Amino acid sequence: MAQNWTLEGWKAQEARYHPVYDDAKKLDEVVKTISSYPPLVFAGEARALKSELAEVAAGRGFLLQGGDCAESFAEFHPNNIRDTFRVLLQMAVVLTFASKLPVVKVGRMAGQFAKPRSAPTEVQGGKELPSYFGDIINGIDFTDEARLVDPDRMLRAYSQAAATLNLLRAFAGGGYANLRQVHQWTLDYMGRTPWAEQFTDIANRIGEALDFMEACGVDASSLPQLKGTSFYTSHESLLLPYEQAMTRQDSLTGDWYDCSAHMLWIGDRTRFEGSAHVEFLRGVGNPIGMKCGPSLEPDALLRLLDILNPGRDPGRITLIARFGHDKVEAGLPRLIRAVKAEGHPVLWSCDPMHGNVIKSESGFKTRPFDRILGEVRGFFAVHRAEGTHAGGIHLEMTGQDVTECVGGAIAITDAGLKDRYHTHCDPRLNAAQSLELAFLLAEMLNLEAAQRQAAKAA
Ligand code: PEP
Ligand code: CO
Repeated sequence: MAQNWTLEGWKAQEARYHPVYDDAKKLDEVVKTISSYPPLVFAGEARALKSELAEVAAGRGFLLQGGDCAESFAEFHPNNIRDTFRVLLQMAVVLTFASKLPVVKVGRMAGQFAKPRSAPTEVQGGKELPSYFGDIINGIDFTDEARLVDPDRMLRAYSQAAATLNLLRAFAGGGYANLRQVHQWTLDYMGRTPWAEQFTDIANRIGEALDFMEACGVDASSLPQLKGTSFYTSHESLLLPYEQAMTRQDSLTGDWYDCSAHMLWIGDRTRFEGSAHVEFLRGVGNPIGMKCGPSLEPDALLRLLDILNPGRDPGRITLIARFGHDKVEAGLPRLIRAVKAEGHPVLWSCDPMHGNVIKSESGFKTRPFDRILGEVRGFFAVHRAEGTHAGGIHLEMTGQDVTECVGGAIAITDAGLKDRYHTHCDPRLNAAQSLELAFLLAEMLNLEAAQRQAAKAA
């Protein structure tokens, strides 16, 4: 258990990018109400994820983390949840098939509502209003009413997270994720991507493998590993009153767990020393992610690791590098070397989204597919050179056929961005682009596997 930690100790530290609630009494009431609600996840589940991540950190697996930039109340629909879940499963099948490594699946889902914004206010047509901080805090419409920071929104976010998680649990365990179903997962518009054929090929080969096992007398339908899958949830731990309200003491171990999600991460803008967000998360037992961008110095990283993981518990820390396609190869090696020299057990994951945002000529915020892929390639190249494991990927993506990131095999053009640009915050990969990225990642994982084999043989 963390030393000198209390549930409200974060309040004495600096909370950057955090909304200010004018009505303190109403905020207190909402926090009290949510504290009395059922936890969304159990401590034991968070511990299970932590041990799976420890395996990945040791080079024996791969982490696939993805979902919306910001979930919204407006896009809350079972089909959206199903489609994103399905693309994540398809990607996991491709990655597992290629790498022969278990893939740990974690959604940016069922709680990814709060956003750090670079400016506290926004001006439109001469009018200034608070920025949009995510549906758990205020609304996206540019009106006084919508932009009001309202604690009651946390109650709605809790309900939506609970219903989303309920559906995800049903999908993961109730037959939908059965490996026999892989054919059925192909989405209609997937037919247009050249990668659909390759996916069908993998699905066929998995079907044959299952047929073969059954012919040998193995009843695949009774094996839990084939019948269902484990699926975990995560979000940025930004809105601290909500996270505090969801934090419970585990009756088994006496440790505190943030039961709003299995895994929580700290953003690139809130991971400084003296941060309220770091202070809060150091005291909960969940696996923790931390974004690492170009401004992070190796010394500061090591001090943060000592604060967040003094016991050097494997699986506890996932470092999510988000440098940008043109900065990763220069910036990442010194962080990897410092962590390795210090002996901190971490999982290195790659977020190729947040360092690659540009404004398109047509005025949309977008991320070119080539730059996303470029950062992933750079990340793998660095790990190959350093002899460390490229352990995961962190994506903003959706199962919908949106047009938010330019490029990809079904090339989305600048002019096409306006067709289905639906995100509440940053541009996401659509279903076809996500699957395409999974195949390209699979090639890189294959290369890593071959290198591992060669090292073993030598
Ligand atoms: C995010 O993951 O949505 C995010 C805001 O990322 P970062 O903290 O890396 O900028
Ligand atoms: Co984002």
